Amino acid sequence: MNSSLSLTLDAFYTDTKVTFDSTLKNDQFYLNEQLQDELATQKVSRFLDLVREKAAISTSAIIHSTNHVPTAAGLASSASGLAALAGASSQACDLNLTPTELSRLARRGSGSASRSIFGGFVEWQMGDSDETSYAVPVDDANWDLAMLIVVVNKHEKAVSSRVGMKRTVETSPFYPGWLETTPLDLAEMKQAIQEHDFQKVGEITERNGLKMHGTMLGANPPFSYWESDSIKAMQLVRELRHAGLQCYFTMDAGPNVKVLCKKSELSLVKARFSQLFKEEQLISAGVGPGIRLL
Ligand code: ADP
Ligand code: CO
Repeated sequence: MNSSLSLTLDAFYTDTKVTFDSTLKNDQFYLNEQLQDELATQKVSRFLDLVREKAAISTSAIIHSTNHVPTAAGLASSASGLAALAGASSQACDLNLTPTELSRLARRGSGSASRSIFGGFVEWQMGDSDETSYAVPVDDANWDLAMLIVVVNKHEKAVSSRVGMKRTVETSPFYPGWLETTPLDLAEMKQAIQEHDFQKVGEITERNGLKMHGTMLGANPPFSYWESDSIKAMQLVRELRHAGLQCYFTMDAGPNVKVLCKKSELSLVKARFSQLFKEEQLISAGVGPGIRLL
């Protein structure tokens, strides 16, 4: 429905190993060393079916995946997990896909995963088919940038991204306003990135994020991913800005708050957050690379 932009982070990633094995009757999916139930395995199998079709095989696989990011908590495990699964599964059957082809494939598992094939700032182009809709790198983000992640709640969210987005698109009267203005935000953002204009990047990040959360309040039935600590974290960002520290917040579909700041000021920002949040709730991240074959 709209193009979107992400920043790949080094702190959050997924390691995935896929082994096709003709002695298996069904796919077996282990996430964080736990054998997954039928429903979770089915999601992975459906994705592997796309890969099997491309490779013209019908062999089942054993999948071992470790998320170095909380799963389904609004910290983009679907982006990380499905990008890794696309890379590992296509390699395991020697498809030798280019990064663009990998992005197209990852998108079929999770839209957000199309971007996470690449490092730095990445744009996912809107569209409804592989022909038009895939991600392209925008900037390596190799400048004074960092992110502090405030983990308000690392448990699985009540409304998955997919269910929440569907309901918003179908019922929220605010959604047309989001669609109308987001292309302008994106164009301004790409300009700001090109100019390494931190303040502008931050301002657009914050207002676009809040606008997205606004669309959910207009849905029927309405829902919100915010918790009281999310608001506390957003308020602190505003206070820090008032005190002269340049930082801006954004939130994905979950209660956790991401604070975009300058790498050179990350320790200052973190120190202020330490006064309100526990050490284990604060994760420092830098700009991350794209997908890698181990
Ligand atoms: P998040 O905010 O974590 O991205 P989503 O609702 O978008 O939450 O997606 C969560 C879903 O992504 C999980 O229920 C699972 O289906 C999938 N997922 C997450 N990690 C992995 C992984 N490592 N391998 C395969 N699928 C994964
Ligand atoms: Co997701």
